[in-house]
Amino acid sequence: WIAPTAALLLGYVLGAIPFGLILTRLTGAGDLRSIGSGNIGATNVLRTGRKGIAAATLLLDLLKGWAAVMLAGWLFPGDAMLAGAAAFIGHCYPVWLKFRGGKGVATMMGIVLALSWPCGLIYALVWLGVLGTLRISSLAGMLAAASAPLSAAWFGHFQLVLLFLALALLVLWKHRSNIDRLLAGSEPRVGGSRA
Ligand code: G3P
Repeated sequence: WIAPTAALLLGYVLGAIPFGLILTRLTGAGDLRSIGSGNIGATNVLRTGRKGIAAATLLLDLLKGWAAVMLAGWLFPGDAMLAGAAAFIGHCYPVWLKFRGGKGVATMMGIVLALSWPCGLIYALVWLGVLGTLRISSLAGMLAAASAPLSAAWFGHFQLVLLFLALALLVLWKHRSNIDRLLAGSEPRVGGSRA
């Protein structure tokens, strides 16, 4: 039980680092939780007008998911998936932010990439494709997340299907206010006047 517990802890602690919040604070852009959607992810960092910080948040949130899987796979072979799941939970429910964390899109991308790069590539392409055409970050993220269990099944990675399905469902759950806004036609577009 030592290796799985250590993998869980490693994943959770890495995943729970709120890079968006830290970077906006450090650069004097204010408290992300009182800006825009109040979310701590890259899309909301973009609403501060700091594109570089938003890009860094996206990259670091992705990297922590990727690193959790890779590090655990190296230190505790056999528990990489567990560490990935824990990193995702850490990002979405960080103990030091009273469990009010991010929505999981970037971190899930890192986890998926580390566990199956072809699934990660499809995830990134769906995300970029929807973002590039419709410019709605939440929709792009949800569709990308939904692609992961499907692509895992397509590539025959059956041990990953259930994990990716669980993460994708959590991504949808965390986007419930975005879903309401999408249905009401009031979800802001990235780069738009209300972005
Ligand atoms: O990854 C978060 C994004 O999908 C939505 O962010 O700030 O528009 O709720 P936000």
